[in-house]
Parts: sequence; C-alpha cells; structure tokens
Amino acid sequence: MKAVPVLVAVLNTNGGTFYEEIGAEQRIVESCDSLSIGAAVENMLLRATELGVGSLWIANTCFAYNELVQEIGTKDQLTGVVALGYGDEAPAPRPRKAWDDVVEYRS
Ligand SMILES: Cc1cc2nc3c(=O)[nH]c(=O)nc-3n(C[C@H](O)[C@H](O)[C@H](O)COP(=O)(O)O)c2cc1C
Repeated sequence: MKAVPVLVAVLNTNGGTFYEEIGAEQRIVESCDSLSIGAAVENMLLRATELGVGSLWIANTCFAYNELVQEIGTKDQLTGVVALGYGDEAPAPRPRKAWDDVVEYRS
C-alpha cells in the first residue's frame, strides 16, 4: 500500500485573520500563543523524525491565507501547515552557526 502524505493545518483558536487590526494587548496574547504553537509543532516534528516520518513546516500559507482558511472552513488563525510523509531523499544536515555567533554573554 502506498503511504499517503498528510497535511496538518495548525490553527490558533484564540486568533483571527492576520488581516484585521489588533491592539497591543491582543498582539501580546497572539505572540505568546505563536510561541506555544511553535513549541508544539517542534515536538510534533521531533516525534515524527523519531518515527522515521519526514516533515516540512510550512509558514508560506500566509501567501494564500484567505483561500486556505476558506478551503479548510475555519475562522481561526491559520499559523501554518505541517506536511508529514515518507521522504524519498535524505538531505545532509544543514550548516549551523557557531554557538558563540548566536549567543551573547553579559555580566
Ligand atoms: C517557522 C518555520 C516556517 C517554515 N516555513 C517554510 C515554508 O513555508 N516553506 C518551506 O519550504 N520551508 C519552510 N520551513 C522549513 C525551513 O525552510 C527549513 O527547511 C527547516 O527549518 C529545516 O532547516 P533548519 O533545521 O536549518 O531550520 C519553515 C521552518 C520554520 C521553522
């Protein structure tokens, strides 16, 4: 049987469309929600990798935002999509910056 890729729509149920004006307080809430969602997605991707399932985190959904929320049938905020499936290639690890290039120590 051929494995079928799965698309998981990641929704912020506290958020609405990106195209409405929001105040500072709501922006703080949205920022915290986005951080939580990012952590949850990372856990999904780590578990998928552990299970030998390939994944792609897609935030480019913003470029077809209205069409996608209409297709999904939601008023929640679409923060992205996670594609899951079995890869037909195994890319080499991507280069990483040195720790000292991304962390600044202050005393
Ligand atoms: C928040 C987020 C959004 C991403 N959105 C996209 C996307 O829309 N399209 C895409 O091809 N890759 C997307 N990626 C995947 C990255 O391009 C990259 O392949 C992935 O993060 C693995 O590389 P890294 O370990 O160096 O981050 C996204 C990654 C993150 C963390």
